[in-house]
Amino acid sequence: MKNWKRSAQDVLSLSPVIPVIVIQKLEDAVPLAKALVAGGINVLEVTLRTACGLDAIKKIMQEVPQAIVGAGTVTSVEQFEQVTKAGVEFIITPGLTPKLLTAATQGSVPVIPGIATIGELMTAKEAGLNTFKFFPAEINGGIPALKAFAGPIPDAKFCPTGGINFKNYREYLALKNVLCVGGSWFVPPELIEQKDFNKITEMAKQVMEFDPKIKN
Ligand code: 3PG
Repeated sequence: MKNWKRSAQDVLSLSPVIPVIVIQKLEDAVPLAKALVAGGINVLEVTLRTACGLDAIKKIMQEVPQAIVGAGTVTSVEQFEQVTKAGVEFIITPGLTPKLLTAATQGSVPVIPGIATIGELMTAKEAGLNTFKFFPAEINGGIPALKAFAGPIPDAKFCPTGGINFKNYREYLALKNVLCVGGSWFVPPELIEQKDFNKITEMAKQVMEFDPKIKN
């Protein structure tokens, strides 16, 4: 049975990294999810940016019970309702719209909305939200921007995504207001296309080999 009581902060605290998954062919959904779980990563953001995105979410939920599946790239209230009905455990949006903000505060699934500016952060805070995707992180100021957000809004927590990679993810994770990082760097489309799921497991293991003590 699913636990709807998990907050957005609880979800982001489950794993230091969340893969942003893009499934082009439905047949790849389950092997990819299994490969990530085998590599120690079980919180999965499966995006709706492809035609089979919603079916991929449903299939992973059915066939990979160890995975905690969320929907990503949710950009409309209609999609919001579809993925809620499908039973996802969290919802991530790339940005904030008034309609999505209302859906986020009234729905039964934890929502992690994307924000890129202090104004969007304040708008979402006013609505009662405190956990965000900072997107696209690197081109919107990256680590210095997150440090700056912590001044006026110290209780907001983030999952920076967009431009995160093997070189910089540990630095992001060391920030007090960062709960986890997201990204596609360890689920590259070419490896999925080649069905090289063993390589993806290896990369996931490598990503998870970081020292949790860096977080103070
Ligand atoms: C997203 O939607 O979160 C991004 O596509 C992920 O960004 P990245 O590909 O730079 O990791």
